[in-house]
Amino acid sequence: MSVPQHIAIIMDGNGRWAKKKGLPRNAGHTAGAKNVENICLAAKKLGVKYLTLYAFSTENWSRPDSEVKALMKLLSGYLDKCVQTAHENKMHIRVIGDISRLEPKFQQQIIEAERVSSVYEDLNLTIAINYGSRDEMLRAMRNVCTDVKTGTLQLEELTEAVFDSYLDTKELPDPDLLIRTSGEQRLSNYLLWQLAYSEFYFTNVPWPEFDEQELKKAIDAYENRDRRYGGIKEE
Ligand code: FPP
Repeated sequence: MSVPQHIAIIMDGNGRWAKKKGLPRNAGHTAGAKNVENICLAAKKLGVKYLTLYAFSTENWSRPDSEVKALMKLLSGYLDKCVQTAHENKMHIRVIGDISRLEPKFQQQIIEAERVSSVYEDLNLTIAINYGSRDEMLRAMRNVCTDVKTGTLQLEELTEAVFDSYLDTKELPDPDLLIRTSGEQRLSNYLLWQLAYSEFYFTNVPWPEFDEQELKKAIDAYENRDRRYGGIKEE
């Protein structure tokens, strides 16, 4: 198989990485944020067109206030830098998730980053912030119901493709490969609809140490898979 067009990543293990080094958890997130830039550039170099990163889930609000604040600050700081990277690398930035719960200033920053980078297509970087797949599907269903109620959509017209168009990921193809770092093997409410036919790759490497070489390993493993969509397996 060829290089996956779309890779989705659950960037796990920042906290454990920091603890092992005797550092506070937030130092792990800082190292993790730094790594995002490296992986974007590596992905582009390796021929990946779409990279979708799970940065903050709908469940992450339950972390201590200081950690939530530190993560939001990191994300906002990263976004500033990211716009520069977008210009240099022709990268289209998108954010998925319910951004209405974020600080108004941060929301504006997101809208602006998406706007200025929308002319680029070499790499599509999507960052999931206050994202949860169940929340995304519920928001989509509410909009479907409203459109059916107002007559904009006929119930008979509701196909998988139409439902897709109500999701935050409507502009993205489904991921070919999901990577989760740091040993856990679960989806944690990430892209449940979109990952229906994706290949999964789990590694024990914590996110701050997941470098270009590790990304290449994941892509190599993907290339050796025999991907199927419910048909008969070739002998
Ligand atoms: C999981 O590590 C990671 C997160 C909850 C947040 C991911 C955020 C970053 C990588 C930094 C900012 C992101 C961007 C896009 C700049 P964890 O804290 O759950 O680690 P643990 O499981 O070892 O405790």
